[in-house]
Amino acid sequence: MATVLVTGGVGSMGQLVCARLAADGHTVRAFDLSTANFDSIPDGVSALQGDLTSQEDVTIALEGIDAVVHLAAILPPVANRLIELAQRVNVAGTKIIVDAMNENVPNARLVFSSSVSVYGAPANDSEVTTSQAYDPDDNYAKTKTESEQIVVNSGLDSCVLRISGVSIPVFQDPPAAWPFLPDQKIEFVHRDDAVNAIIAGVTANLTESTRIVNVSGGPTWKITGSQYIADYFGMIEVDPKDAIYQSKPGHFSWYSDEGGNAALGYQQNSYPQYLEQLQDDIDRLMAE
Ligand SMILES: NC(=O)c1ccc[n+]([C@@H]2O[C@H](COP(=O)([O-])OP(=O)(O)OC[C@H]3O[C@@H](n4cnc5c(N)ncnc54)[C@H](O)[C@@H]3O)[C@@H](O)[C@H]2O)c1
Repeated sequence: MATVLVTGGVGSMGQLVCARLAADGHTVRAFDLSTANFDSIPDGVSALQGDLTSQEDVTIALEGIDAVVHLAAILPPVANRLIELAQRVNVAGTKIIVDAMNENVPNARLVFSSSVSVYGAPANDSEVTTSQAYDPDDNYAKTKTESEQIVVNSGLDSCVLRISGVSIPVFQDPPAAWPFLPDQKIEFVHRDDAVNAIIAGVTANLTESTRIVNVSGGPTWKITGSQYIADYFGMIEVDPKDAIYQSKPGHFSWYSDEGGNAALGYQQNSYPQYLEQLQDDIDRLMAE
């Protein structure tokens, strides 16, 4: 069993990752800002307050570590509004952790949560492979592109996970505009499967072709924007014609697996299962 540092350890994915790693028997250290909420830190996980942009905090956090799961980041929409903050945390922060790992724990595995936004909007109809060129078209995607490059060129034993839009099987109010077009190919990933991929990345035997993985839902999740809306609006009994889409294609497509699921075994929740889980949550809310 390993001693694992999770940056962004009390964020929405971080909490789940820490809990699962601890349940699997690893010693887990959740690292996050002192302003973050550590109240619901899972059993068996130790809390460490600190700032990723502080070399000193990061060096302390790395003591005795066998693996790092690097999740801490500034996400959209903030990352596209506070450009300098996103650069400082997502890019400079990643450089600090990579340099500190090389200096203090050069043999530790680094699992890095990137995003399919690094590909930009889909250029054509084919499935997106991990060798497709970067084409970031907003600040968040630019910071993920730059930070990925820092990880890939670090010389560390690293695994880059390009995570698609994370679908949480819990009812949430629809966004002001859906982040895709009706005829656009989309392939989200169930939140638990994204967590599965991150956990597996800590110990998986990786080959050159699985050092960078598209983390997406798999065959049952390959749908179009309008199908997603029809399914979702059907559940809340709203006419799909009332859906408001954004005006340009979003950062979504269908993704090529390239051995990622065989290496990480993460795709465990199909799209129909997700819809059932979401329906259960909606039924629960209606019954309250
Ligand atoms: N949620 C998604 O749909 C999605 C999709 C693709 C990739 N990702 C990536 O997965 C990772 C986790 O996402 P999430 O949804 O849990 O995000 P989140 O915003 O819930 O968690 C990020 C955490 O990072 C922490 N953090 C921010 N700045 C920090 C700093 N300077 N020092 C230490 N901690 C800091 C925050 O306090 C927060 O707890 C991110 O890297 C994100 O880019 C998320």
